Amino acid sequence: LNKLQDALKNQGELDLLPSPIKEKDDVIVFNSVKKLLTDALNKNQYLRRLEVQQVKDMVECMYERTYQQGEYVIKQGEPGHHLFVLADGKLDVYQHNKLLTSISVWTTFGELAILYNCTRTASVEAVSNVRTWALDREVFHNIMRMTAEARHEQYRNFLRRSVLLPLLPGDKLTKIVDCLEVEYYNKEDYIIREGEEGNTFYIIANGKVICNILPSVCLGKAVELSCRHHVQELKIITENVFLYNCTDEDGVECLVIDRETFSQTVGTFDELKKYLQSYVDSLARDDKKRNANINVLDTYFLNIS
Ligand code: CMP
Repeated sequence: LNKLQDALKNQGELDLLPSPIKEKDDVIVFNSVKKLLTDALNKNQYLRRLEVQQVKDMVECMYERTYQQGEYVIKQGEPGHHLFVLADGKLDVYQHNKLLTSISVWTTFGELAILYNCTRTASVEAVSNVRTWALDREVFHNIMRMTAEARHEQYRNFLRRSVLLPLLPGDKLTKIVDCLEVEYYNKEDYIIREGEEGNTFYIIANGKVICNILPSVCLGKAVELSCRHHVQELKIITENVFLYNCTDEDGVECLVIDRETFSQTVGTFDELKKYLQSYVDSLARDDKKRNANINVLDTYFLNIS
């Protein structure tokens, strides 16, 4: 924006513009800068999983920092205070004084020390006068923390509406929420492969998956599961061999928990079965579910009951 204003001023044009037009131009330039910053954050491989709102909040909090030719923007081994996007000029990246690469304009850098709380992994030197947009470490972490808290609440509410987990006591549910990790799968990825060892319990948070189940287990049907269903690696609880393939449709977000954590938070299979006994009983009473409308969850619980 400053550069554009300088350019206009040099041409004597800015003063000639009526102020509403100047303001309108400011808004247009600001919006295009925001778009460039958003794209720069989104295309960074370590920041790719940020949510839309997180990126939006971060962009709103970024501010300009300039560096003179020859100055270090970042020094290897020092603690990191900012994450940057290069807006103008040339930067070189060095590790132990060895040139690694140059950074192109509208690229994010300095994200590693901020994300992983480590010291700077490389030095970044200004080859020319440089203009960057910076985000302070505290602001980055505040945005991440606020979202984590909101997410925690969102997952809790989500799990309360899921198929099985509301049957667990509240404290168990909270522990599960604390331990959940999020995994993303692209279209046609396999989430679970038939025959592989299962150590993970999956809950579909977003998207749909197709389960191709062994014919003997589920009447030879491919079963479609969607949001809030559990794609369970059944061996996690039962050691039963119960195998299926899952291929997602349009990209899937799963909440996952591993076997060890599951055992620590929910307890043994016997404990789990006790909590779910009413569900198992209700299935046993429901002939329809046992026959024509059988689905993978029912099959499983019929199995274990
Ligand atoms: P950080 O470790 O916070 O500070 C130095 C930055 O240089 C680092 O984050 C990355 O953004 C960047 N960086 C480190 N190694 C490389 C590399 N091999 N190629 C490109 N950029 C790098």
